[in-house]
Amino acid sequence: MEAVIAAKPIIKVAALCGSLRKGSYNRGLVRSAIEVSKSINGLEMEYIDISPLPMLNTDLEGEGTFPPTVEAFRQKIKEADSIFFASPEYNYSVTAPLKNAIDWASRPPNVWADKAAAIVSAGGGFGGGRSQYHLRQIGVYLDLHFINKPEFFLNVFQPPAKFDSDGNLVDESIKESEVWNQTSTCFHVLLACHAIQLSQESVKGIEIEYIEIDRLPLLNTDLEGQGTFPPEVEDFPIQLSQESVKGIEIEYIEIDRLPLLNTDLEGQGTFPPEVEDFRQKIKEADSVLFASPEYNFSLAAPLKNAIDWASRPPNAWANKAAAIISTGGSGGGERAQYHLRQVGVFLDIHFINKPLFCLNAFEPPAKFDKDGNLVNAETKERLKEVLLALHEFTLRIQGK
Ligand SMILES: Cc1cc2nc3c(=O)[nH]c(=O)nc-3n(C[C@H](O)[C@H](O)[C@H](O)COP(=O)(O)O)c2cc1C
Repeated sequence: MEAVIAAKPIIKVAALCGSLRKGSYNRGLVRSAIEVSKSINGLEMEYIDISPLPMLNTDLEGEGTFPPTVEAFRQKIKEADSIFFASPEYNYSVTAPLKNAIDWASRPPNVWADKAAAIVSAGGGFGGGRSQYHLRQIGVYLDLHFINKPEFFLNVFQPPAKFDSDGNLVDESIKESEVWNQTSTCFHVLLACHAIQLSQESVKGIEIEYIEIDRLPLLNTDLEGQGTFPPEVEDFPIQLSQESVKGIEIEYIEIDRLPLLNTDLEGQGTFPPEVEDFRQKIKEADSVLFASPEYNFSLAAPLKNAIDWASRPPNAWANKAAAIISTGGSGGGERAQYHLRQVGVFLDIHFINKPLFCLNAFEPPAKFDKDGNLVNAETKERLKEVLLALHEFTLRIQGK
């Protein structure tokens, strides 16, 4: 009888780096992982550059079509079996370039769905850990299957040096050294990623029974928006403050024209002109009102980008009062608000706690007219409460 030898399937891994910096340590981790992957049978890793992607703007989409760089990126993700994320943490969360890439590939049809994934990060004190936990939460929405262990956080600023000036992981090739241990951990991350993908591909003999839960007397989220998007909210507070909140002057600051954050664009404490202008506006403000949708359970990339630019030393957000308002589907953007609050811990922003303003734009009665103007009297009143709370809190922060 002829022996049949089953060929091991090749697992294709797309490796993404969340930093655009040329000498990025995290890209150094990708290069190192690609080297390591060559010694793992059945694993093929490819680095996918996210820097050419435009800033997410759904106006750039056609009927299910995307700009060419986005199409090419989505195709690469689609072809991959699993994803290897190597990213720094920016202000306690994922970086804007990475969130941007994530959001583009999430647009229908979501090309992340059902893939295995692993995260590694190189950064400051916690080695990027907080951003990893945000990414895991985002993955819930994207339907990514993250390996749980091993976790890989690399503190790059703790001696001995882990990278050279080009961002290459320095290979001491001494087994007992920290570098060696970290590299071998990287090996285990890849193996675990490999294993989870294989198990997904070969699960047979499972019987799934559908259990109805509709009749339970519990909340029903059928009211979510279906491919339609809520109107923008930023104009209403301005209108409202002019009409009825004394002592507040609200200016709308555009963030669309900021370049995607790349520290290579910085000089010695200088920034590109649009960034300088934006930072100056934030510096001059007493407090900040954020109005943003939730994308994939977290902040929209343009907002994260703006936040990150103004955080560059000296941090322009420091010690300001702030409030967040959002409108969206069932949760009304609440998860994005909680991520923003966590980001604010690092930025030293003092958020008002109450009232919460997470508006379900799709629940009747209609809140907006067809031009996106807020028309619902009760919602206007709620918004006014937010502005009053922000006003009072700002004065307190300023000791007035
Ligand atoms: C906008 C910005 C925000 C940052 N915030 C954090 C942070 O919250 N936690 C952290 O550990 N490091 C933070 N860092 C430091 C980066 O983690 C560190 O510079 C890292 O080396 C960047 O990764 P890269 O070498 O791959 O570019 C921040 C850096 C930038 C540019």
